[in-house]
Amino acid sequence: MTLKIVTVIGARPQFIKAAVVSQALRVAGHQEILVNTGQHYDDNMAQVFFDEMGIPKPHFNLGVGSGTHAAQTSAALVGLEEILIREKPDWVILFGDTNATIAGALAASKLHIKIAHIEAGLRSFNRRMPEEINRIVTDVLSEKKFVPTQVAVDNLHQEGITSGIHIVGDVMVDALMQYTPIGEAQSDVLARHQLTEKSFVLLTIHRPSNADDDIRFKHILEAVGSVEQTVVFPVHPRSKARVQRLLKDVNRSILTIDPVGYLDMMVLEKAAHTIITDSGGIQKEAYLHRTPCLTVRNETEWVETVRDGWNILVGETVEKIPELVSNFPTPTRWEAHYGQGDAAHTIVEILANQ
Ligand code: UD1
Ligand code: UDP
Repeated sequence: MTLKIVTVIGARPQFIKAAVVSQALRVAGHQEILVNTGQHYDDNMAQVFFDEMGIPKPHFNLGVGSGTHAAQTSAALVGLEEILIREKPDWVILFGDTNATIAGALAASKLHIKIAHIEAGLRSFNRRMPEEINRIVTDVLSEKKFVPTQVAVDNLHQEGITSGIHIVGDVMVDALMQYTPIGEAQSDVLARHQLTEKSFVLLTIHRPSNADDDIRFKHILEAVGSVEQTVVFPVHPRSKARVQRLLKDVNRSILTIDPVGYLDMMVLEKAAHTIITDSGGIQKEAYLHRTPCLTVRNETEWVETVRDGWNILVGETVEKIPELVSNFPTPTRWEAHYGQGDAAHTIVEILANQ
C-alpha cells in the first residue's frame, strides 16, 4: 500500500534522522511531504545537512525561527494544522523531542491523524528539561511508538503506555553507518584544524542548564580547558556570544569553530581522544564510534552507554574532567544496543503493513 506521509522536522538532529527515513520512504515508493518548521535556520545548522545528506527540499518551511517555547511551538502548531487539513496524510512522522515534535503531535492528534513517533520512550526523568515534556506528550498522543531499546519500552510501560510499541533500533545508527565512510573519504576537517587522530578532545555544549548560566559555563570551560589535549569546540549558536565573552576570562586554550556538517562531525567524533558533551545524539554517536565520552549532565536517556563504561556523567563533578580524560577507565563491554543500521527500513515496512 502506498502511503501519504507528512514528516515534521525543524532542528539539527531531526534533519539527520529524516535523511535516512526519507530515503527509506522514497525507496519504498511512498509519498512524503516534508515540513520544516524552520526552528534551526543558519546554513551550518540546517542547509548543510540537506546538501550533504541528500535530504529533499522541504515542501513547506514555516519560518518559525528562534523564540520562547510558546512562540516556537504555537507558530509551528498553527502552520502544521493548516498543512495537515489540506494534505490529509495517512501518517505524521515525528522525531525525538523538540518543539517541532510537540507541535506536530498536538496538530495531528486533534485532526485524528495517526502519529508515528521515532525515538519514542526515552526519558531523563528530569522535567526541567523542555525535551522531557515534549517526549512525554508526544508519546501519549502517538499511535506508533518506534523505540530504540527495551529500556524505552519499559519507560513507556511505566507510564501505562502498552500498545503500538515497536523496538526497531535507532535511525541515528543508520545515518552514522551510511555517512561515516563518506565523511572519511571526503572531509578535510582534521587537516583544516591541524588535528591528528586521538590527540584532541571534542567539546559540544548546548543544554540551557549548562549554556545559559555564566558561572556554570565558565566552570565547564575552565575544567575542559585543563585537559592535556587540544580542545575543539564547535559552538552552538545559542551560546556563541557567551562563549566568546567567557573565554576572555578563561585562562585556557580552546579552539572554537562554527558548527560543522554531519560528515565533518562523524570524522571528528571518530578521531577524538575523548568527547565531552551534553548532547543526546553525540553521547550515542560516541558509543557507536567507540570514543570515550564524558557527559556534562546529571542523568542520561542513553543509559546503556553509561552501563557499558563508555560514558561517564560528570554534571556534578565537572572538576574531575581533566583526570578522567587522562585516565578514562577501560570500558567493560560494547553491544549493538541501538540496532544494526536498518531502523528506517523497518519503520517504513511496519507503517506500510498496517
Ligand atoms: C533545540 C531543541 C533541543 C535540541 C537542539 C539541537 C527544543 C526545545 N530544543 O535546542 O532539544 O537538542 O535544538 O541542537 O526544541 N540559533 C541561531 N541559529 C539557528 C538556531 C538557533 O542563532 O539556526 C540560536 C538563537 O539564538 C536561539 C538559540 O540558538 O534562540 C536556541 O535555539 P533553539 O532552537 O530555541 O534551541 P536549541 O538550544 O537549539
Ligand atoms: N552535529 C553536527 N555538527 C555539529 C554538532 C552536532 O553535525 O557541529 C550533529 C551530531 O553529530 C548529532 C546531532 O548533530 O548527529 C546532534 O545534535 P545536537 O547535539 O544539536 O542535539 P541533541 O542530539 O542533543 O538533541
